[in-house]
Amino acid sequence: MKTTLSIIKADVGGFPGHATVHPDLIKNAEEELHAAKKSGEIKDYFVARCGDDLDLIMTHDKGVDDKKIHELAWNTFISCTEIAKKLKLYGAGQDLLSDTFSGNVKGLGPGSAEMQFEERKSEPILCFLMDKTEPGAFNLPIYKMFGDPFNSAGLVIDSNMHHGFTFEIYDIVENKKVLLNTPEETYDLLALIGGKSRYVIKRIYPREGSPVPKSEAVACISTDKLSKIAGTYVGKDDPVAMVRCQSGLPAVGEALEPWAFPHLVSGWMRGSHNGPLMPCSMEDATPSRFDGPPRVVALGFQIANGTLGRPFDFFKDKAYDRTRNKAIKIADYMRAHGPFEPHRLPSEDMEYTTLPAVMKKLENRFKEI
Ligand code: F6R
Ligand code: MG
Ligand code: MG
Repeated sequence: MKTTLSIIKADVGGFPGHATVHPDLIKNAEEELHAAKKSGEIKDYFVARCGDDLDLIMTHDKGVDDKKIHELAWNTFISCTEIAKKLKLYGAGQDLLSDTFSGNVKGLGPGSAEMQFEERKSEPILCFLMDKTEPGAFNLPIYKMFGDPFNSAGLVIDSNMHHGFTFEIYDIVENKKVLLNTPEETYDLLALIGGKSRYVIKRIYPREGSPVPKSEAVACISTDKLSKIAGTYVGKDDPVAMVRCQSGLPAVGEALEPWAFPHLVSGWMRGSHNGPLMPCSMEDATPSRFDGPPRVVALGFQIANGTLGRPFDFFKDKAYDRTRNKAIKIADYMRAHGPFEPHRLPSEDMEYTTLPAVMKKLENRFKEI
């Protein structure tokens, strides 16, 4: 029987402000998913958090986009919202853009990443959770894992990885997608995904000759853009991703290597600033300074017959201390720009923030030059 891994996430209230998830919300989500596990609806779960985002990590046998699973996540977010409202948490229910559930969380506010696969002899998987940033923040690290031989030694020295990978790219402006193969289309791929606010990696597939069937995704990223759904700024996308590892796929260490570089991502303070992405443990995923800097958490699982088990929290490791220090130095440098680009996002991207309302005031004062 195939296993499905689903991460469905939402910000249903921050504590305090947009910093973390209140323990009562975590407890409630755990109770809901525990009941679902008991009734056999899901096989296993882990309730995670990154900043103010509540991440429901679930395994089951129902495949991707299953109505029951999405409804379970939706109802969990609804009951967490009720608690958030009682506690007057900040932005209670902010990511739930509809009053009614209509079969899938897509388009309703929460983000989701899901994969269905035949479990291999051993199935190591990494779940990446981000806060204060957008889906394109995954472009650089996912490219490095699956496309860059300077990052993933396996692309050079493992014959099972030599065939390269197929990248599924979404154009989130025009709602189109394209498949590109590496290594031969690497330059075309980079031409697109370098523009990370528009072109985002959705999935990675193995190619002919890989020990993993080429119909099975080996990585999946949540690409839901809240501003595109709501038409205005309501909060940030704060994406998640899952990556299968080892035996013809990037080794766990190759999937962790790209994060040693705290690359610049957008989404810091008011969804309007660029800043370094800082890898940290779940415990330390508590945006503070200028509501940030943006965070990423990496939880590792060994899936066994649909069971997730406990996660291993990778970025706790001291090997990432230097990255964190570098991120803090970059944060100082970027912050020194104050309201100036490139710390503040370019004007096109500011359309989806609260700035247009401010600009409206000046509209009639402009004269022809
Ligand atoms: C939201 C976020 C924050 C808020 C900021 C202002 O995810 O990261 O930076 O944008 O705290 O929030 P408001 O406008 O609600 O006071
Ligand atoms: Mg929030
Ligand atoms: Mg958030």
